Amino acid sequence: GNHDTLQGTSCMYKLKVVLIGDISVGKTSIALRFVSNSFQDGYRATIGATYISKTAVIDDDVICFQIWDTAGQERYKSLVPMYLRGAHIAFIVYDVTERDSFKSLQWWLDTLQEHGDILKAVVVGNKCDLVSVFDDLEPVTLAQERGLQFATVSAKTGQNIEELFHIMGSRAVSEM
Ligand code: GTP
Ligand code: MG
Repeated sequence: GNHDTLQGTSCMYKLKVVLIGDISVGKTSIALRFVSNSFQDGYRATIGATYISKTAVIDDDVICFQIWDTAGQERYKSLVPMYLRGAHIAFIVYDVTERDSFKSLQWWLDTLQEHGDILKAVVVGNKCDLVSVFDDLEPVTLAQERGLQFATVSAKTGQNIEELFHIMGSRAVSEM
């Protein structure tokens, strides 16, 4: 597909993207949907972090997304600042069906602000194919207070995934 034909193309921009957020919110699933347009129902915890890349043409720019998919398990939290270093884009992910994953956003956003010099960050509510346990107003307000973007997506159906990477990619590029 598109991905294969672009593999040999040289990058005009390299963007380091980091996905952070609680365990099981769907960080790996978001990365896999974007990179290989696939989805797996079973849960396999990420250990430490995984690297995956994809090249995309966005508004005539060849952009190489270098994606670091971090682990949400408590024991790996201390590694997150290391992955945030030098990142252009951060996705701070929560699960729209898990209130706890939303409560944790404060901690993730504090970590982001302390340890990253990031061009663009977005609060991402994943699993929007399921019934949300909250009103979107809460996460929208939280994102606005921090000066961040906000989006809801579904890695399962693919809703908004490619669009979000493209929007964040072109915004980051315009500030490089
Ligand atoms: P850690 O690596 O442990 O931090 O988890 P993660 O954030 O990478 O979550 P992962 O992508 O492994 O997904 C966790 C579970 O949620 C898996 O069973 C996925 O199939 C499921 N899941 C992920 N995204 C969606 C979604 O958009 N909708 C639904 N219904 N399920 C999803
Ligand atoms: Mg994972």
